Amino acid sequence: MLTWNDEPSPQTAAPLAAGGAPMPASMPARPATGVFGDSALPTPGLTQKPQAVDSATRVNVADKRIINGQTDVNQLVPFKYKWAWEKYIATCANHWMPQEINMSRDIALWKNPTGLTEDERRIIKRNLGFFVTADSLAANNIVLGTYRHITAPECRQFLLRQAFEEAIHTHAYQYIVESLDLDESEIFNAYNEVPSIRAKDQFLIPFIDAIADPHFKTGTLEADQTLLKSLIVFACLMEGLFFYVGFTQILALGRQNKMTGAAEQYMYILRDESMHCNFGIDLINTIKLENPQLWTPAFREEIRGLFAKAVDLEYAYAEDTMPRGVLGLNAPMFKSYLRFIANRRCQQIGIEPLFAQEENPFPWMAEMIDLKKERNFFETRVIEYQTGGALNWE
Ligand SMILES: [Fe+2]
Ligand SMILES: [Fe+2]
Repeated sequence: MLTWNDEPSPQTAAPLAAGGAPMPASMPARPATGVFGDSALPTPGLTQKPQAVDSATRVNVADKRIINGQTDVNQLVPFKYKWAWEKYIATCANHWMPQEINMSRDIALWKNPTGLTEDERRIIKRNLGFFVTADSLAANNIVLGTYRHITAPECRQFLLRQAFEEAIHTHAYQYIVESLDLDESEIFNAYNEVPSIRAKDQFLIPFIDAIADPHFKTGTLEADQTLLKSLIVFACLMEGLFFYVGFTQILALGRQNKMTGAAEQYMYILRDESMHCNFGIDLINTIKLENPQLWTPAFREEIRGLFAKAVDLEYAYAEDTMPRGVLGLNAPMFKSYLRFIANRRCQQIGIEPLFAQEENPFPWMAEMIDLKKERNFFETRVIEYQTGGALNWE
């Protein structure tokens, strides 16, 4: 299980920055005359006149690196990774909050004894059972793991926004549970008690633990591969694969005019997750470019094995949530869909596809993900935070 030990051990205690605040373990070493140097910076609170610092310590864009960088992580500009900054701006423009979505139709339908079939209710409860904790795992992975190992401040800026969005997603799932007056302990304990959900989380947790370990540091081939593996697992397999059976099921309900409030919440979440997945893939590909030595044949084989395992786990989840056909969906359709998605993720990060060419059995999902501008999709309320339309999927 996760043990979040934030206390550095005495042997690995982080150095102190000026003012006594501990610096993250991965804070790059800085030139002695730089703003983090030991002698150039006046002690805060003293009346001593600040001394000029050497302009040679200014950040040179060519020196910036996604991992193991030596440039100052506190200086956002000059930009090197413009794509990260642009994605940060785009995610902010997509801002939304769960309580803005009207849940009254969902509540009435859920309370109506004949409003939904038992199979539809099972889908909803299993779905929430997975997602109420999944996004907390994603948030913890960013905040306690990924963030401190990424040395490009424009990428850190995106991760900060992403972490907040994961909090919004957990809030959204909690809000649906509360609105429908579901048994909270049943839903929030599903990740321990429902085997198909537990298996997915047990697959993910070691990849969080590895990089959240306070003793973990990048800078060796093995450690950098561990970090890269964790990034691939989260972007391509968690956000890019483990979410898709659940999203498809709830959006299929929405397409049949059922649970339209929950479906709208999921649409916003899907849009956010598509952005997280795309950011993660850009991050992975840039790390590969900057560190080609990490991309060994053995590493690629290991990644392919993880993809195959994730497809099996997600398919087992599809079978568990749909013992029979429901809403025009059935588990075998998801076998094709998951293979189709896995092949796409492989191609996005430069791995040989795992499966023979697969058709997408849910072209309407592709339309939703690619949706450019679609307001009031389920004819419920949409708040606009950006002037150009709230549902811009790019
Ligand atoms: Fe999320
Ligand atoms: Fe996410």
